[in-house]
Amino acid sequence: MRVLGIESSCDECSLSVVEDGRKVLALCTYSQLKEHREFGGVVPELASRLHVQYIASLYELLLSEIECTHEQMKDYIEAIAVTVSPGLSGSLLVGLHFAKGLALTLSKPLIGIDHIHAHFYSSQLEQEIVYPHIGVVVSGGHTLLGVVHGYNDINILGHSIDDACGEAFDKIARELDLGYPGGAHIDALAQQGAIESAQFPIYYDRDNPYNFSYSGLKTAVLHHRNKYWNTEYSQSIENIAASFQDAAIRMIIDRLYLLVKSTHIPRIVFGGGVASNSHLRILMGTMKQNVQENMGISLEVVIPPLDLCIDNAAMIAGLGFCYLQDGIISDINIGVQSRHEDYKNTSLS
Ligand code: KG4
Ligand code: ZN
Repeated sequence: MRVLGIESSCDECSLSVVEDGRKVLALCTYSQLKEHREFGGVVPELASRLHVQYIASLYELLLSEIECTHEQMKDYIEAIAVTVSPGLSGSLLVGLHFAKGLALTLSKPLIGIDHIHAHFYSSQLEQEIVYPHIGVVVSGGHTLLGVVHGYNDINILGHSIDDACGEAFDKIARELDLGYPGGAHIDALAQQGAIESAQFPIYYDRDNPYNFSYSGLKTAVLHHRNKYWNTEYSQSIENIAASFQDAAIRMIIDRLYLLVKSTHIPRIVFGGGVASNSHLRILMGTMKQNVQENMGISLEVVIPPLDLCIDNAAMIAGLGFCYLQDGIISDINIGVQSRHEDYKNTSLS
């Protein structure tokens, strides 16, 4: 059973066809990075205009990849899944309206998808990951951690109370004139820096040990840069990148360690662009050893390939298939929701 997925919640315009919730038959993504770069971040108005500009050509590209005409799509797909929340309203609306047009012309059901649930689902593409597992989404827009019991059953335990992890990488990179988005630049520079050149604070939330905060870390890094710049203690940009990156990534590792310790769930699954960070992979390797030695648990760590970690329509189509199988479809009058309350913390159960 094939489902067409559409994702346009932020600055990636993406369409995909996925078979049986797992097999990615085609994935066409247009990233608007170069258009937003000069502004140092995503400009919402520009993002929605660019989605309008590119979405129809992406659909044509998708059709050519699966060697299908628009008319043949009636027999090729069973449903259309589209991101409806959370995200930039204007951007979400472009994808939703395109999806509605297709649903009506092809006479197919429409399935509204939650972008965060889709990130948690993305690891199930091309492989089967056993439930329950610990899921962590670290991207430019979100930092969330939870226990995933099923595609539709996620117990979110912690989230960032301010900036997302990727956002902190991007903001610091911008201040250091490294360009946008900054994650990969900082990652590359940090390889030549000394982590111990500075010690940045790692936030701990007294009320919830699974929460994150990146705003204070960002301020500490910039303060440090301003204090030592052009002094005899001058810090190289590589050293600042290495020390910041270590603190940012350890904030994730510490919480994961704690969660494995309290649940004994032997599987951690990543989603979001920050999952491609090289230091994260190194520290996860160390954590695996520690978990083995201290808890006797052989930990499995799953980091999907980058095109499935970042915003993409395959995860939307894949999750759409699960909903379709369970008979959950949306009303054609469904709207978008830029934020919602579901990502508040819940207790560990
Ligand atoms: O998942 P994604 O597309 O985020 C959202 O659209 O929300 O990932 C993009 C984010 C950016 O903040 C980018 O700086 C960060 O992922 N990123 C990285 C790396 N590569 C991308 N952060 C740290 N290290 C990397 N290697
Ligand atoms: Zn995302």
